[in-house]
Amino acid sequence: MTDADYPSYKDTDSFIDVQRLKSLDGFITQRLRERLAAANDRHFYTGPFLLDDDAPDRPGSRMIELTRSREPEDYYDLDRTEIWEPTAEAEHFAPLMDFIATLPFAATGRMLILYDPSGGAVSAHKDHDSAELCHEFLWMRTNLRKPFYMLDPPSGARAYVGGHSAWFDTVNQFHGADASDGLSFSIRVDGVFDDAFRRRIPFPSENRSSAPSLWAKAG
Ligand SMILES: [Fe+2]
Repeated sequence: MTDADYPSYKDTDSFIDVQRLKSLDGFITQRLRERLAAANDRHFYTGPFLLDDDAPDRPGSRMIELTRSREPEDYYDLDRTEIWEPTAEAEHFAPLMDFIATLPFAATGRMLILYDPSGGAVSAHKDHDSAELCHEFLWMRTNLRKPFYMLDPPSGARAYVGGHSAWFDTVNQFHGADASDGLSFSIRVDGVFDDAFRRRIPFPSENRSSAPSLWAKAG
């Protein structure tokens, strides 16, 4: 059980340089358009924890991996920062990597750009089912086109992310995206938050994955 309210997310815009993030919109959009013809980027997989079992677990989204693990793929390794290393894509997106270096992380692990050339919906899902595992990450977007939401199944209520960045509970609620017109994309950076950022977070003694929602509730 948790004291958090769902659906909810922690808006993190006040902890990052939003103007700099927004300024990357044209650059990233152009880079993505350049590669749309070469559609061999890996499909994004929601994982097995779908809200609706019949919803697609490989929607139209594709991933650009800015870092890759040196070890066999394991979702529980996202925050083992020592095993992740930059890919050739990181160079291709150098201005984005420079921005990521300004984020409140002591160390970074997995970094992804998730994009969909046709702005398709992303099926509502949970990322994993380990309540004590709290991934420290920032979800970000350079524009507001991707309608991204948290969803609480008992009520079906949704909370749409309003700003450019968020940290959210990926275990005790679902998240997904509605379809939008044309290319949509977002960026997710996992790692270990730095001490100053961590000190702000009300990590609970149980159900650690609810920390973002507890923080959102605390205001
Ligand atoms: Fe997810």
